[in-house]
Amino acid sequence: MNSKIAILSGDGIGPEIVAEAEKVLHCLKQEFGLSAEFEHAPVGGAGYEAAGHPLPEPTLALARQADAILLGSVGGPQWEQLERGLRPEQGLLGLRAGLELFSNLRPAILYPQLADASTLKPEVVSGLDIMIVRELTGGIYFGEPRGIRYRDDGQREGFNTLVYSESEIERIGRSAFEIARKRSRRLCSVDKANVLECSELWREIISGLGKDEFSDVELCHMYVDNAAMQLVREPKQFDVMVTTNMFGDILSDAAAMLTGSIGMLPSASLDSRGKGMYEPIHGSAPDIAGQGVANPLATILSVGMMLRYSLDQPELAGRIEDAVGKVLDSGLRTPDIASPGIQVVGTAEMGDAVVAALRAV
Ligand code: IPM
Ligand code: MG
Repeated sequence: MNSKIAILSGDGIGPEIVAEAEKVLHCLKQEFGLSAEFEHAPVGGAGYEAAGHPLPEPTLALARQADAILLGSVGGPQWEQLERGLRPEQGLLGLRAGLELFSNLRPAILYPQLADASTLKPEVVSGLDIMIVRELTGGIYFGEPRGIRYRDDGQREGFNTLVYSESEIERIGRSAFEIARKRSRRLCSVDKANVLECSELWREIISGLGKDEFSDVELCHMYVDNAAMQLVREPKQFDVMVTTNMFGDILSDAAAMLTGSIGMLPSASLDSRGKGMYEPIHGSAPDIAGQGVANPLATILSVGMMLRYSLDQPELAGRIEDAVGKVLDSGLRTPDIASPGIQVVGTAEMGDAVVAALRAV
């Protein structure tokens, strides 16, 4: 099957890191039988510059047609003053909502070669392998009503709505249980049920699923403040975690840092049929954009997730993961994962090294 891959590199370091991931895709196509075609389109600030909107209509149309989407990152200070609906982040949120990519998988895996790069003690993080399943199209990110309004006393107030329907909770819960079933059959659901009604319903529905459909999976519940603490205290107690859009946003950044660098972590955002958008979990890093120093590995590993979850090519995904491991073994590091005395390379050298390792395997 010839797959169509939409490539949306976005803003900041996005174009640099996506270029390296494309080298990997081209290598897989030329040498390992990947049958795919690629099409590019602007999103985020780049979409605004090209077409006056962070998610131009043709970009959304391309994303809808594609079998999978590779996204770089969106955002930058030059667009922060725009009205909210035109800001780069709306490009990303619009893709997530428009394509119903409700299930966001964010693995946090510590490469043994990078144990030194973590700010936590090696014994706390060595062997770490967590999967955070974040609900991505609901909750406070999308709830209505929302806005900034005037009160009777003349003060303004900002407001958002945290809302989840039973079916939204059920579908993300099912995704997470199914993933847990393929791993160690342990799932921790994170909420704030001691304070929020929305979380109370969340907990009830997840518990029900556990009893009725997934009694083979060991389920526990944790309040989000405790989960944040436990993630830095004893992260290896977790295997699969499932949580809401906003809690998942926050916890996945914390989990990422356990692994040494947010520059290492890929993600997949899936709909109910396995179509997906793949992106590094880090942002557009405008402070280092254009310098050729960003770490492309999260984006390259996102291609690996794409091959596994959307293109049904687990063998090629494994090749990418092995190649990244080999490159780390060889001692190459971008600045974000460097430790004293180690060879620091730029974005393109890192991408080239992964391609060379792929060819060598
Ligand atoms: C992420 C990012 C996004 C989010 C931003 C850029 C809108 O932080 O993917 O984690 O909050 O979801
Ligand atoms: Mg985030």
